[in-house]
Amino acid sequence: MMSDQAIQPEPAILVVFGVTGDLSQRYLLPALYHLFKEKLLHAQTRIVGLTRQNVTVDDLFEKIEAGIRSKDPAMDTSALQTMRAHSGLLKFDPSVRDDYDHLKKHLAELEATEGVCMNRLFYLSIPPNLFETTVANLGAAHLETGCDHGKGKSRLLVEKPFGADLASAKELISTTNSVFAEEQVYRIDHYLAKETVQNILTFRRTNPIFASIWDNQHISAIDILASEKIGIEGRVNFYEGVGALRDLIQSHLLQLLAVTTMALPNEFSSEAIHDAKQMLLAAVEAADPSRATRGQYDTYKQEVNNPDSTTETFARLSLEINTGVWRGLPVTITTGKALSDRRTEIAVTFRDPHEESLIANVLTFRIQPNEGIHLQLAVKKPGFEHEIQKALMDFSYQQTFGDSTHPNAYERVLADAVKGDRTLFATSEEVLQSWRIIEPIQEAWQANADGLRNYQSGSDGPMY
Ligand code: BG6
Repeated sequence: MMSDQAIQPEPAILVVFGVTGDLSQRYLLPALYHLFKEKLLHAQTRIVGLTRQNVTVDDLFEKIEAGIRSKDPAMDTSALQTMRAHSGLLKFDPSVRDDYDHLKKHLAELEATEGVCMNRLFYLSIPPNLFETTVANLGAAHLETGCDHGKGKSRLLVEKPFGADLASAKELISTTNSVFAEEQVYRIDHYLAKETVQNILTFRRTNPIFASIWDNQHISAIDILASEKIGIEGRVNFYEGVGALRDLIQSHLLQLLAVTTMALPNEFSSEAIHDAKQMLLAAVEAADPSRATRGQYDTYKQEVNNPDSTTETFARLSLEINTGVWRGLPVTITTGKALSDRRTEIAVTFRDPHEESLIANVLTFRIQPNEGIHLQLAVKKPGFEHEIQKALMDFSYQQTFGDSTHPNAYERVLADAVKGDRTLFATSEEVLQSWRIIEPIQEAWQANADGLRNYQSGSDGPMY
């Protein structure tokens, strides 16, 4: 999903709240290293890491280097040194008001040294319970405006979860919007920044044979699956009480549904794409709990040390889109952890008007792994009998583009935020619509744990 407009990077200061945290060390800082390596940032880029801990820039970079080297032994040390030369740390407590004045002074000093008024990006890589205080304190210190006192120079980057349900998301959005204008807020959904997801809209727009049959007359089902082999990987505090429905469906998987089924805008501007996506999500009926399934893998309770845990690690729900184009089409979304297979894909099954073939035409967007798109066809098996067999037309990123790796989702997120391109970020309206859609299931599951089914780790999820 590419915006039509190419925007060049400008001088920017990236202020990372919680720079020593897991997310920042595992994703954000390695992604910044890649952007330095590929020279995709403006030469006047600065990184200001904020932390409560007593760490030095050397400590921080030692860890980053070890992390990058473990994945890429041939790492470019000079790119990392360049990034190091552009980075600094500030001792900072997000709940202490005075620390924001120090931060403001520090940013002004950096800008004075560079001799330019820079874009300031506040990246909140902090626990959700600190979010509201941090935003309010940024506002109290007037950090929502840049050094030119204009709002265009200051941006807020936030990670999910954006609230825990519809009511809390509304509250959070209203706090954020009392300080920052909507255009200044970049809500990260790293699925939107995946190359394979961006390609869905491009594929739909540039292959007219599919555009003309993209409706309930020609499509009989859409199935979205995000199956993970991994469990919760020690993220006990995060996952317990969150569960699969909020963790993946409310955010990533409803976004996948939106890009698959939204009306194609005439131009791929950020505004037009968001308008179309919002319209689609607004037309999705609130989910029916009686058509939803949940499960928990067998070792989960022990892992989180809570014998009474009712948190679901598997969720499946059926949705309906109430528009002329899609009404009546069954949409299924499934996700689970500790399953047999790692596979994220969107399968679009086409109708057989003659109802003759036992093999359906299915177009599958393979988001990961083995990234690609394939089309399942029915063909005649060679021989005297008239036997029909399944055949695949297969596009593989690896075969077509070779091993040249595409930018990972976090590199894309950061590069776009620095440029001020909001196309691949979730708007507040999208976030609210997604919470609205899952609200009845959240309420039903909270009220009653009866339907929670146990499944074996490494299996295909709860049996039906
Ligand atoms: C995160 C979820 O947003 O996405 C994780 O919190 C999940 O639970 C992850 O494992 C999946 O992302 P990816 O890119 O590995 O599919």
